[in-house]
Amino acid sequence: MTTAPQERATARDGAARPDIFGAARLGYVVVESNRLTDWNRFGADAIGLHVDELTRDALRFRLDDRQCRFLIRRGPAEDITAAGWEVEDHETFEVILGRVRAAGLPLAAGAAEEAALRGVERLWRFPGPKGIATEIFTRARTTPAPLRMQNAAFVTGPSGMGHLAITTTRPEQLHTYWNNLLDLRLSDRITERIGPAKLKIRFLRSGPRHHTIALANLAGLKIDPIRTAVQHVNIEVARLEDLLASFHRVTDLGFAMAWSVGQHTNDRELSYYSVTPSGFELEVGWNPVVITPELEATWEPSHYDGISLWGHTVAGNNAATLMTRFAAAVRSLREQEQTVPALSSVPAGARR
Ligand SMILES: [Fe+2]
Repeated sequence: MTTAPQERATARDGAARPDIFGAARLGYVVVESNRLTDWNRFGADAIGLHVDELTRDALRFRLDDRQCRFLIRRGPAEDITAAGWEVEDHETFEVILGRVRAAGLPLAAGAAEEAALRGVERLWRFPGPKGIATEIFTRARTTPAPLRMQNAAFVTGPSGMGHLAITTTRPEQLHTYWNNLLDLRLSDRITERIGPAKLKIRFLRSGPRHHTIALANLAGLKIDPIRTAVQHVNIEVARLEDLLASFHRVTDLGFAMAWSVGQHTNDRELSYYSVTPSGFELEVGWNPVVITPELEATWEPSHYDGISLWGHTVAGNNAATLMTRFAAAVRSLREQEQTVPALSSVPAGARR
């Protein structure tokens, strides 16, 4: 494996296919919620983010000099509805749009108002797995306004804003979608035993961050037990004391904690998982492995048994929580998971 741009033949037409690995990173997420007051308090007072109230119906969270890393708009979904990917250059932008067009997916230019809300100059939108729209943009707007937040700094830059973890009953299709669209690479896999069931997770990277997309499925389970499209979104604090102080603020202010502080086996990140006002989780992490160009040159995917070296114990896993999850699982039986077949069928790009 090398970091240099590569050309490889597609199975479909034999033409050279550029490898755009490393040219796209997660820029922002869009959340739809009717609980904006809770989100404001959760973001500013518990996690300690910079919050901007744009209107009665829209909040933005900042992590750095970007105008927007989280856009929270009023609406009933209580979920992440879009993920915005920053694309490094115009050429790569055209490659991605070409792939979307070739797959026959509907492609829409974002309206000027949508671009302004997300703090980007312009964006394009097309369908993504599980109903989460994929948006791509080339230039983010920054602001000279100082950060007002309770954390020293977040790690973003070339690594992007963090990662998304998605539960799925169709991990192969979702893996193929990200591979065909952005040439994400497989970092490693984890198998975790939960009683008689096996939770299998694969971790895909788009650059130096160990993973930007994690795909989790319960082997043999045909239903997705998670209500929200995204199980968790991760952000990374620069200092250990900010991880621990925010952990205490979350619990002190009465927000739910899903998993206490622990350390992951594969990327060695220390983290905790809090429950957002919309029900999906926010993982706040510190000090994960960075896949530098030197590591990238020789990286081979490996396999780990178990998600955590220590900690990450379940908090609040009482009877009421279990009943809520069971009810969500039964509801999801009636729904077909959306996988964007046009970009999810094997083979198109070569699987890495
Ligand atoms: Fe995570």
